[in-house]
Amino acid sequence: MKGSQVLFPELGSVEIDARKRNILRSPKKGGCCSVDSIPYLEELGIEIIENGQPIQFTSNINSHIHRWAPYVQGFSASFVQGIFDRYKDDYENPVVLDPFAGCGTVLVQAKLNGFKSVGTELNPLLQFIANTKLNCWDVSPSYLLKTYNSLRKDHILSAPEFLKSTSQFNELVLRNLERLAGSIEAVQVKSTQKQKVKDLLRLAFSAILVDCSNLKRSPCLGYVKNKYVDDSAPSALFGQKVREISDDLLLMQSEYGEIIETPSEVRLANAMDYTHRDKFDLMITSPPYMNGLDYVMNYKIEMGWLGFADTQKELKKVKDEMVVCDNVSKGLIRKFSKSSSYTNDWLEAIKERIRKRIIKRGAYRREDMPYIVHKYFDDLYKVMKNILPSLKRGGRFIMVIGDSLIADVYIPTDLLLARIGKDLGLEIESIEKARERRSGQIRSYKLRESIIILRKR
Ligand SMILES: C[S@@+](CC[C@H](N)C(=O)[O-])C[C@H]1O[C@@H](n2cnc3c(N)ncnc32)[C@H](O)[C@@H]1O
Repeated sequence: MKGSQVLFPELGSVEIDARKRNILRSPKKGGCCSVDSIPYLEELGIEIIENGQPIQFTSNINSHIHRWAPYVQGFSASFVQGIFDRYKDDYENPVVLDPFAGCGTVLVQAKLNGFKSVGTELNPLLQFIANTKLNCWDVSPSYLLKTYNSLRKDHILSAPEFLKSTSQFNELVLRNLERLAGSIEAVQVKSTQKQKVKDLLRLAFSAILVDCSNLKRSPCLGYVKNKYVDDSAPSALFGQKVREISDDLLLMQSEYGEIIETPSEVRLANAMDYTHRDKFDLMITSPPYMNGLDYVMNYKIEMGWLGFADTQKELKKVKDEMVVCDNVSKGLIRKFSKSSSYTNDWLEAIKERIRKRIIKRGAYRREDMPYIVHKYFDDLYKVMKNILPSLKRGGRFIMVIGDSLIADVYIPTDLLLARIGKDLGLEIESIEKARERRSGQIRSYKLRESIIILRKR
């Protein structure tokens, strides 16, 4: 069998494939990022500070507004609040930017504090979710519930044709979803308030789709064996979500009345080239992680049902504009490898090491990995170069990011990004370790998730 061999013959014929063999032979088995970071830290002349804290979105599922839409890739509202609290003496009323807004955690939390905020996001579904979470706080909860209760049951909106809906959903669940989607689509919009109500209903519908399906996002979207979904799940979960939204609106209007009008907006734009009119005190963000998630394919079901994409080609077009992930098309990387781009000696050495390891391994899932890694940093360089002129003097750029292990080569993403920030004129104030992670490839290798804090003098 090509690419396989028999290991431990005394145990019988245990055939393992090339991937497993490489894991077993990896020089990084049992290793950790703190050792591999030493030369980089020495060059930067800094140390990493321990600052463990819950940083992932999961803790938002019980937080008002944040809970309206599940988003595994987001970060926790309490982390964002911690940043605002930490710098409350430095900025009285900070103007906040999140260039990778996702579902709007930073902006929602900024608004809860009465701070003006702006975001950019390339996925139109996520931009819609974020803006709906930000700009519907004045909707009357009773008007929302009244519209929900009067949804007409005789309209049907067919499932998106380009998706494999009959595998994704059980037959009766699918019929019920089509009826629900049709009833929302049929809501007549005659005023701004009604448009907001319709947006809230569409958001609620998008939020229940994966729970109604035979899939799970953990964090990538994939089929789950033996998942039981009751035929009545669409109406039950949708009703529950609408009531949750209505409860939060009631709370906002009674407790946060004075900040409802705080300007907050996520623009559908590329963070690499969007020109900001505002100047910012705080930029708080979490970019895509290298080698990480595909922020389009992971949301294709919601994008299809809500009409943000009608074909696979449209999905690919959005994806190709984003900061690169390892699911990127080969053509895009080929084109990149021929163009000039940002680089530095660390990056060139890392690329060379990856190239050599791939040759040593004999094969790798992406032979063009050195260029994918290079494009990732080039993309983030472009974002930082584009937005940093909009950071006020004394302002801070704060980024949450995880490092990576690729083809047995350690990539200190946090330190590399801090170095790019330094090259662009910022001072590295601190790099803090928020949590330990495990490499997806070599589980025994310890990685970290860091908070990078850079400051404009
Ligand atoms: C880690 S997520 C951010 C999550 C966010 N902190 C939250 O809590 O919702 C990164 C986001 O960046 C977006 N993105 C990727 N490339 C982008 C680009 N070039 N411009 C704007 N947004 C981009 C992705 O669609 C994704 O939603």
